[in-house]
Amino acid sequence: MNILLTGGAGFIGSHLVRRLLDRPEHQVINFDALRYSGNLANLESVQQHPRYRFVQGDICDQPLVESVIRDHQIDGVINCAAETHVDRSILDPGSFARTDVVGTGVLLEAARQAGVRRFLQVSTDEVYGSVETGTSSETDRLAPRSPYSASKAGGELLALSYWTTYQFPVVVTRGSNTYGSHQYPEKFIPLFVTNAIDAQLLPLYGDGRQCRDWLAVEDHCAGIEHAFLHGEPGTAYNIGGGNERENLTVAEMILDSLGQSKSLLRYVSDRPGHDRRYAVDCSRLRELGWKPVVSFADGLRETVRWYHEHESWWRPIKSGEFKRYYEEQYRRRLEEGTACGS
Ligand code: DAU
Repeated sequence: MNILLTGGAGFIGSHLVRRLLDRPEHQVINFDALRYSGNLANLESVQQHPRYRFVQGDICDQPLVESVIRDHQIDGVINCAAETHVDRSILDPGSFARTDVVGTGVLLEAARQAGVRRFLQVSTDEVYGSVETGTSSETDRLAPRSPYSASKAGGELLALSYWTTYQFPVVVTRGSNTYGSHQYPEKFIPLFVTNAIDAQLLPLYGDGRQCRDWLAVEDHCAGIEHAFLHGEPGTAYNIGGGNERENLTVAEMILDSLGQSKSLLRYVSDRPGHDRRYAVDCSRLRELGWKPVVSFADGLRETVRWYHEHESWWRPIKSGEFKRYYEEQYRRRLEEGTACGS
């Protein structure tokens, strides 16, 4: 299959590129705008691969998207291209609506016009909103609460409408909080790991008791591939790791594994509209034959090890554009924050 994978230079995308290239039947065309979190260094190991091509471009660029789909005789599309960080969506909501809704629309229409046989939209468990108790199943009402999750909900609803209206075979996945190597250090786990390596403060939002279901990137990619190949058209599939942890617990695990002191923890002012908890019921994808295999203890240990051994990957990132963002997002909050236990 000739697969167009958008956002393939990002975190989940780059893991997925490598996974798909392991299957001899796939040709992978990676289409990525290379914005701040897209990084070709994530794909060094496959750059010369005979079944891999890279095209730089934006999914909102309709003529370019159409020509890539036509020129590469694309059979299937996996849309990983997205603005993904909740905190940035609070600073700049417009760019999220543009990429996650408008861009998805451009891609869907170009793929439908070209007769593409399969389209997978990578979405998020955040579309269910904050879930105080129990778990979200795919038939639950969508109730997104941040510009990020609302944009992702818009994108996936548009995708699902293509099945209802045109019988264009779309499948949606709703993944939970993903972690692993090559994740841009604005997200909780890589930010806390790299700060802890440098003995910098770890900014815990609010009371640090928010809950996330942690999913290893390898398990997430296996779920996306499985849904892409075997999912029912017009259907959404939850993908979760089954590892619910409070943020404070994860922060303490990171500090322990690096031998760092808990005095690095700082409670800082909360994220506006912060969702308290996400938790998904994954039985639909399990019934299709997928299950997560990485335990959180092993996955986190390996992730900490990877960041420890790959400073040449993340140090240039943290000293570039990221530095300005970090100042804006955290400097004041950290100055006003309180230490753990005080
Ligand atoms: O649930 C899936 C989603 O998980 C993905 O769709 C998103 O792309 C991804 O960003 C993630 O969203 P979260 O907002 O849950 O992830 P984040 O890593 O930003 O934060 C995880 C938790 O840690 C959340 O409760 C906020 C908290 N946090 C985060 C940061 C960056 C802190 O306490 N301090 C921080 O500095």
